[in-house]
Formats: sequence, C-alpha cells, structure tokens
Amino acid sequence: MPLDFIKKLIDLLAMQKMNRLHLHLTDSQGWRFESKKYPKLMEIGAYRKGTPLNTTYDYDSRPGDSLYGGYYTQEQLKDLVKYAADRFITIIPEIEMPAHSKSALASYPELACLDSTGKPFAYPEQIQDEYCTEDETFEFLDNILSEVMDVFPSPYIHIAGDEASKVNWKTCPLCQKRMKEEGLKTGEELQSYFIRRIEKFVNSKGRNIIGWDEILEGGLAPNATVMSWTGIEGGITAAQQKHNVIMTPGEYCYFDHYQTNAPGEPVAIGGLTTLTKTYSYDPVPAGLTNDEAKYILGAQGNLW
Ligand code: ACM
Repeated sequence: MPLDFIKKLIDLLAMQKMNRLHLHLTDSQGWRFESKKYPKLMEIGAYRKGTPLNTTYDYDSRPGDSLYGGYYTQEQLKDLVKYAADRFITIIPEIEMPAHSKSALASYPELACLDSTGKPFAYPEQIQDEYCTEDETFEFLDNILSEVMDVFPSPYIHIAGDEASKVNWKTCPLCQKRMKEEGLKTGEELQSYFIRRIEKFVNSKGRNIIGWDEILEGGLAPNATVMSWTGIEGGITAAQQKHNVIMTPGEYCYFDHYQTNAPGEPVAIGGLTTLTKTYSYDPVPAGLTNDEAKYILGAQGNLW
C-alpha cells in the first residue's frame, strides 16, 4: 500500500483511539522492508510477476508478465514511525518466519532446505515456504531483525510463526541433523526450537516477541506474546500458561472477508464478517478466571 494510504489509516486508527499498528512487512509474495545488508531482497524479493485481478486466489488467471511490487525504505519507515507516534500509535513490525518466506528464499536460495539427497531444490518451482533450520538462516534473521529494531522502537517485534507446513524439514538432511542434535522429535518441536532461538536474540536486544498461535504447538517460547487468529483456543491456552495474548480470531477480526452481502462488494478472501458481528466481539474469552483474563492485552483487526 502507498505510504499516503498508511498515513490515512493511522489517522483513522487515532480517531478510533487505537494505539498499535501491526505492519506485516514480509510474506512469500513480497518483501517490503529495505535491508542495507541484503540487497537481493529488494532486487528480487520485492517484485513478482502477475497480479490477480478481480479474482479470489485464482492464481491461474493472473496476467502473466506484469511486474508488481515495491518496498519501503528505512527512512520512509522511520518517518512513518514518527507520524504514528505523534498520534499515540506504536508500529509493531512483523517479519515472517519460518514460513511465508518465499520472497526471501527466492533472493537467497541458500537459506532454503536441501532435498533428501542433499541437493538444492529446483529453483524456483520447488522452493518451499520455510527457511532451512541451518545456522545461516539464524544469522540472516538476526541481521534482519537488528535492522528492523533500528527502525522500529516498538517493545514488541512480531516474528509470525504461522502456517508452516514443515514438509521439507522432514527430508532435509540439515534439518534432520538439527533435530538429532537438539533431541527434537517432531516438526512442531523443530518450529519451537526455531522460535525460541529467535526469541533469545530479540530478548537480548531488550525487546519481546509476538507470534501467531501456531507458536504454541511445540511448546511456547518463555516470554512470547500469542496472537490468536485461528480461533480463540490459542488465546485461552496461552493465557492459562500466563502468557500475554492479543485476540484476533478470523471469524470476527479479519476484514479481508466480505463485509456485506450487497452486490458490488470489492473482491474478498471469502466469508462474511459484518460490522455488527465485529462490533459484538468481546476479546476476553468466557471461561477464563479473573487472573487469566489479565493476560488478554486487547484485540486487533486484520486487513491483508
Ligand atoms: C494468518 O492469517 N496467517 C495469521
């Protein structure tokens, strides 16, 4: 989205007395954060061919050759941080890992898994969504997160953790070696190792991580805040484990759903989430004790 759009969004958030803007800066389809250290992220990762027009996830109907993309410079983002702070809003940056990372892997294929014979996967068709769990990945992500933390003073850094298929981890010799060395039995435990290792780095810089609710699966990182999106259960479990929680269940809080049944609604991901339904949402799940309910920091709306 153009910066002017984000500034308008910030104005509207301030008008509604909202105090955080979570910016999803990277995904498989595009890398939007300028890195001084890794220029290929802007040369390769920030652009892709084809844009779905008037379709909903209808990838086959993309116009083939139109190049789409762009990224924000660090200077632009610093300006945005100030613009938001002047309106009492903290911007929380998100860098996706271990999955939703094809834009980074297209730029630096050496960070992707190897096939079961130890060879690189064919590029780009077979490149998966997840980073390999080799040391080089952590070096890369630590460097990226350092750059991110230099731009965003937010006490929270979102490190995602959602929707990792972990398919390649099961056959990649480097990931298998990692599992053996660390005594990890499942892909979920390997993901947990990944997130804990990143958390340690982020904590060492005096910041805390937020992750989507899948970070619960192999055991929660010690200081993580959980963002509950697949439903409310992740939020309940995390609060019961005395972890902070932000509630954003898809059914109420995803604004990329259809918002009315009226003809002419802009293309949406599907579903129907009306203003009435969203407004009816109480972020504190029933059934939590008063003590547990204190871990629910608030709610968030998502627009993808
Ligand atoms: C998400 O919508 N994958 C967090």
